[in-house]
Amino acid sequence: MTKPAPKQKKAWSGRFSQPVDAFVQHFTASVSFDKRLAQHDIAGSLAHARMLAGCGVLARADLKAIENGLARVRAEIRAGKFAWSVASEDVHGNIERRLVELAGDAGKRLHTARSRNDQVATDLRLWLRDEIDDIAGKLISLAEALLAQATRHAALVMPGFTHLQVAQPVTFGHHLLAYVAMFERDRARLADCRRRVNVLPLGAAALAGTTFPIDRERVARELGFEGVAENSLDAVSDRDFAIEFAACAALMMVHLSRFAEELILWMNPRLGFVKIPDRFCTGSSIMPQKKNPDVPELVRGKSGRVIGHLVALLALMKGQPLAYNKDNQEDKEPLFDTVDTVKDCLQAFAALTAGLQPQAKAMRAAALQGHATATDLADYLVRKGLPFRDAHEAVARAVRAAESAGCDLAALPLKTLQRFSGKIGKDVFKVLTLEGSVAARDHIGGTAPRQVRAAIARVRALLA
Ligand code: ARG
Repeated sequence: MTKPAPKQKKAWSGRFSQPVDAFVQHFTASVSFDKRLAQHDIAGSLAHARMLAGCGVLARADLKAIENGLARVRAEIRAGKFAWSVASEDVHGNIERRLVELAGDAGKRLHTARSRNDQVATDLRLWLRDEIDDIAGKLISLAEALLAQATRHAALVMPGFTHLQVAQPVTFGHHLLAYVAMFERDRARLADCRRRVNVLPLGAAALAGTTFPIDRERVARELGFEGVAENSLDAVSDRDFAIEFAACAALMMVHLSRFAEELILWMNPRLGFVKIPDRFCTGSSIMPQKKNPDVPELVRGKSGRVIGHLVALLALMKGQPLAYNKDNQEDKEPLFDTVDTVKDCLQAFAALTAGLQPQAKAMRAAALQGHATATDLADYLVRKGLPFRDAHEAVARAVRAAESAGCDLAALPLKTLQRFSGKIGKDVFKVLTLEGSVAARDHIGGTAPRQVRAAIARVRALLA
């Protein structure tokens, strides 16, 4: 391999007869990315040191020196003045090195009854807990943007699709509320995942626990954990909390991606159902006429990488024997990127949703083209006593007549309609209109504007 790494003693170098190879030092270091955990690492160290002092394992004077030292380290990091070094391997090694420079022997005592194995698991859980709260807030902002649009357009009729073909009229508000439902489930999933993230590994030490009389409950309380990880081997090794979060995130991205796909379709001039403000669009370098939906396309694309991170974390875990293995250092980049990607996409979509401009005329024209009220006619005949299967058959024949006349079912004259069933009267046109059709679906979960408004009120009450 390459030459030995220069100077700086490792925390573990006592065991070794040769300095570590320079390439290996870079290859094994994680500081370039795990320095992101620094503030949570310091919070964990402070709680650990206070507990050690409370249990009589650390002298009060040493605790004071550690607290002062860590306060200084924290300030240096915040100010961007901290000298991160690959030689100190990771965020933990770097902070400890600086603490020892500042606090001397007291700094060297901080790692009593602790290992980087329980330390990193603690840092990651603390960090992820904060990020989950942030993401939950962003999900609420997106839901609020959707609710505001749904309120404005509770009665705006558009074609609802199945198989991407016009099926039945729905309201734009109702369509948006479908996404509110998805994102609310995503938020509930995150809240559930958070309970399992919020458990303290510290005290597990390297893998078997520690010989010191520690008080894990005290550390858990100070750090806001809801409980203590029960088994030390499990505490330092499993990353199921991260995998579970990545699964929640992947599902969230799948929901965003579906929404993105719809926006892209809706913005296609062939449909022209929505416009989005120019600030969310980009042009083409060659085709002067183009206005492209880059933001939704990127979100749809980014769902792929978050799904990839979930798979990476699962694969990372699957072959690992108990307890900690260095493999786990590979958990961070996928997890960090998952969080960053999800937050960016949620932010983009909250803003984009607020700016959506539905195009009522185009929606209406499309809804009037696919015989969208055929089911309404069948239901009408059922109300007049026809069995549903026979009603379905009669309406299907009427649709064929409309097709050959080149018009929508609702545009056929009464005389023509009556050829398919003697039960059809003048009142049929009430059910054949788009407004009549949506208003008639007037039950919980239905598309009637009245129900859309009631659904909005229910979600708003939950969010309040
Ligand atoms: N940087 C390491 C990680 O991210 C910290 C734990 C190292 N522990 C060890 N025994 N080498 O997993």
